[in-house]
Amino acid sequence: MSDSTLVIGVLASGRGSNLQSILNAIGSGTLKARIGVVVSDKRDAEALVKAKAHHLPAFFLDPRAYADREGYDEAVVQTLAGHQVELIILAGFMRLVTKKFLDPFQNKVINIHPSLLPAFPGLHAHRQALAYGVKVSGCTVHFVDSEVDHGPIISQVSVPVLEGDTESSLADRILVEEHRVLPRVIQYYADGKIRCEGRKVLIEDGLSI
Ligand code: GRF
Repeated sequence: MSDSTLVIGVLASGRGSNLQSILNAIGSGTLKARIGVVVSDKRDAEALVKAKAHHLPAFFLDPRAYADREGYDEAVVQTLAGHQVELIILAGFMRLVTKKFLDPFQNKVINIHPSLLPAFPGLHAHRQALAYGVKVSGCTVHFVDSEVDHGPIISQVSVPVLEGDTESSLADRILVEEHRVLPRVIQYYADGKIRCEGRKVLIEDGLSI
């Protein structure tokens, strides 16, 4: 692999299907990047199993081993930096990140969220969408700032909400789009085609991702 290959760090707390979508895109050659390390705050995260199956460095960092959030984030940053990570993907990472995390990685941390932000940030996005009665939901890929599910939006994909949808059926339909859009955003980032101007994210080519 050439030295210019983008090195990604993935943070995940759960099943790791978005991690898997990145691995699949790398495997098929549609994403020219490499995962340098996977970190989880959950010992039994399926994402760690998936990473190890691909022989990737994968670490459980236990939040209880640190006095506060800042201490934990410093440890995560050290782990990421130690693996030469250039872009960080929060793929179902269920922790708030602090300035200790964000300062060294300005505009280099991307999150995926299963709603059309700014609607339904935080936990249980699908449940919120169903309770509100929206007819359309979707997913958002955005840069991370210090507020929850708030940073500049890179890409959004809409998904219909159908009568009779449950949290799980809506989540499944949105997940299909998550798996498609996240690797594409990473490739655009790797190609240097994504630029932030305040809250606006400009994408070279003018193509929607
Ligand atoms: C996804 O729905 C993602 O949008 C949200 O958390 C979920 C993670 O799923 N932030 P997975 O662990 O990638 O399967």
